[in-house]
Amino acid sequence: NLWLFSLINQGHINSCHTGSRVFNARTAEVVSQHQVEIRQRFPKEGWVEEDPKEILQSVYDCMERTCEKLTQLGTDISNIKAIGVSNQRETTVVWDKETGEPLYNAIVWLDLRTQSTVEKLIEKTPDKNKNYLKDKTGLPISTYFSAVKLRWLIDNVEEVADAVHTGCAVFGTVDTWLIWCLTGGKNGGVHCTDVTNASRTMLFNIHTMEWDLELCKYFDIPHQILPEVRSSSEIYGYMVREACVSKGGSLAGVPISGCLGDQSAALVGQMCFKDGQTKNTYGTGCFMIQNTGVKPVMSDHGLLTTIAYKLGKDKPAYYALEGSVAIAGAAVRWLKDNLGIIKSSSDIEKLATAAGTSYGCYFVPAFSGLYAPYWEPSARGIICGLTQFTNKSHLAFAALEAVCFQTREVLDAMNQDSGVPLTKLQVDGGMTANKLLMQLQADILCIPVVRPTMSETTALGAAVAAGLAEGVCVWTLHPHGLTSVTAEKYQPQINKEESEFRYTRWKKAVKKAMNWETHEQV
Ligand code: G3P
Repeated sequence: NLWLFSLINQGHINSCHTGSRVFNARTAEVVSQHQVEIRQRFPKEGWVEEDPKEILQSVYDCMERTCEKLTQLGTDISNIKAIGVSNQRETTVVWDKETGEPLYNAIVWLDLRTQSTVEKLIEKTPDKNKNYLKDKTGLPISTYFSAVKLRWLIDNVEEVADAVHTGCAVFGTVDTWLIWCLTGGKNGGVHCTDVTNASRTMLFNIHTMEWDLELCKYFDIPHQILPEVRSSSEIYGYMVREACVSKGGSLAGVPISGCLGDQSAALVGQMCFKDGQTKNTYGTGCFMIQNTGVKPVMSDHGLLTTIAYKLGKDKPAYYALEGSVAIAGAAVRWLKDNLGIIKSSSDIEKLATAAGTSYGCYFVPAFSGLYAPYWEPSARGIICGLTQFTNKSHLAFAALEAVCFQTREVLDAMNQDSGVPLTKLQVDGGMTANKLLMQLQADILCIPVVRPTMSETTALGAAVAAGLAEGVCVWTLHPHGLTSVTAEKYQPQINKEESEFRYTRWKKAVKKAMNWETHEQV
């Protein structure tokens, strides 16, 4: 047996976590796994941070426990032939390459601290056009992407500014930070990222597939601090002994040969290799991605154009249209942590099922503004349609419906952009274990929703990339043949009129969230 090791850093309905999965390269079965929660910090309203060292430690812990479990099974760790990394995209880390120390916490993708910078940037463009950089980057100017977070760090953190000045600072998304540390860190770690992660920075030209010096100038980012951009499947470097299990080195020398942003990894893990194939992943947020083939398609309806994957140095890059929704699982977490109406996130299914309806209550969880298709950073969350009768079950139901309505909005945009309406939606991610959510999703989209019983799509995608790399090549099964054998299908159970009625009211609620005045920060 040959195995592939996946390290994943992603959002989940309950939390953000690091996980490790070991796959059998012949059957794609999970042989061993572990998971560790990562603490998110909210130091000010709208700010979201993680500690890069805690992320790294969680990776060590995952590697250690996963290998321990393998040993307990009486198996040989030397069967592990390659390691793939997959991560939450856009989250921004700056560290000192001489000391190996992070210079600030990681600024997480949905952090809103750069809202005023973004507003000023848009104000300065001809026609106040948020899509001013879209031709090159595929992205609107938004708080979401790394360039503005990096700019904030240089402007506001003295240590970062000094280290940039002395040439000691380096930037990376979480994949870059991890690969650098695992391949040697300050003693020669490899400073690289893959095209999918690079395409989320706003500094990367998605046509030339290179860092764009004009964009660097626009954001005033010294390009020397950026990592080398590689494909999603090639040997980036080898795990060093110091970074290995209990420092005993059981993974020492194993190549790290797969790297994909989590949403791209899920696309690969769902085997969406053909033009038009689409998946939707429900984590912290919700991300619908459609493979559009080897040519970028620009959206006229508020979607992003992004790199889907490039599975090999000499292989073509595939592009995707993406509908990004910032808050999905995070809305459920808010009901748990901020309102306390459920004890654990999974309780929401029972609570919402008890109501069976939102009773006219609509909840727009625009906590980080609204992403696709609106890209409105000043939108704020609202709950409307309350009556004396509304109770917590109705609110729980409205939270699940909100996830489905937001998905409907991006699916409509995708159908308009492609001109070919989707006839089914492939889904994955932690929230898809919620059967009520899946049924509501089919009802609100009016098309079947298909959930693979193999739920580890993100990890599988990273493993596919790692196993396909030149010099590794351990998939005995061609990845196209890895399609999940079984799947659960949810058929729409309400009629189109009812679905449209509910959706129209949702749209009215969104309008109110969009016009909401943000209060001044004091
Ligand atoms: O772009 C953000 C995305 O990569 C993170 O998604 O849901 O894993 O936090 P999630």
